[in-house]
Amino acid sequence: MAETRKVDGIGIGLRYAMAERTLASDVPEIRWLEIHPENYVQRGGRFRHVLERARERFPLVTHGLTMGFGAVDRPEDSYVKPLRDFLHENAIPWHSEHLCFSGDGGVMLHDLLPVPFTRESVGVAVARIREARDRLELPIALENISYYADAGPAEMPEIDFLLEVLEQADCKLLLDVNNVFVNSQNHGFDPRAYMDRIPVERVVQIHVAGHQVRDDSLIIDTHGEPMRDEVYELLDFTLRRTGPVPVLLERDQNFPPFEELVAEVKRLDRIYREATAAAGAEGDGARGAA
Ligand SMILES: [Fe+2]
Repeated sequence: MAETRKVDGIGIGLRYAMAERTLASDVPEIRWLEIHPENYVQRGGRFRHVLERARERFPLVTHGLTMGFGAVDRPEDSYVKPLRDFLHENAIPWHSEHLCFSGDGGVMLHDLLPVPFTRESVGVAVARIREARDRLELPIALENISYYADAGPAEMPEIDFLLEVLEQADCKLLLDVNNVFVNSQNHGFDPRAYMDRIPVERVVQIHVAGHQVRDDSLIIDTHGEPMRDEVYELLDFTLRRTGPVPVLLERDQNFPPFEELVAEVKRLDRIYREATAAAGAEGDGARGAA
């Protein structure tokens, strides 16, 4: 059984397109890696080899893509049990998933779809999160998603929906700063006012990413572009509230030369240091620490 290691500072996603460069790199600002367990659970060969090399060098956290907490269907044991074993074998400190649904009635759509912001949806998500915590025997972090269409008549704004689920499920938050920015532009709200309402004691991890601005001004959360200045600024604002919470740069497609990614990591690291020092939290240890 591996030992749980402290997760702090800036991390990147371990993606096959960049795995060799990532594992051979010597960049002190890259402090930890995020993995999708779907890529490794019950898989051997090259996958297992990459995972073992990653684990030797970096603390790891997991981010799932299957068990959206807004889904009505209860995840199958055939998915959950091997995942639980994997998380514990690799000493993962918390497991995150999205506040969305990806399928229904046994059909999987492989997309992160929004649920209606209703009291009924709150109840579904709370049940799924509590159940996941019990079945995985690990802290659960819920991630806020970006969305482009309303899923149905809402009984409350998105932020109230998120807060209600967090409170009732009593779980952690993976705060995706880029998703807040994207939604604020597409749906017309103040992203700083949104951040002001986040319960900082629940935040264990932050995501940032690049997004695409279309000609019709709709913003798409692609994870395939360089980060925009507005998102760096919103991250700075957020870290000044949360203190030192580990920050993950998400890049899932359209991979740039590794040096460009490293330049983004270094810029994030500077913001992280300055903002968390300004928050008066330096030396407290990361909230996301194991
Ligand atoms: Fe994210």
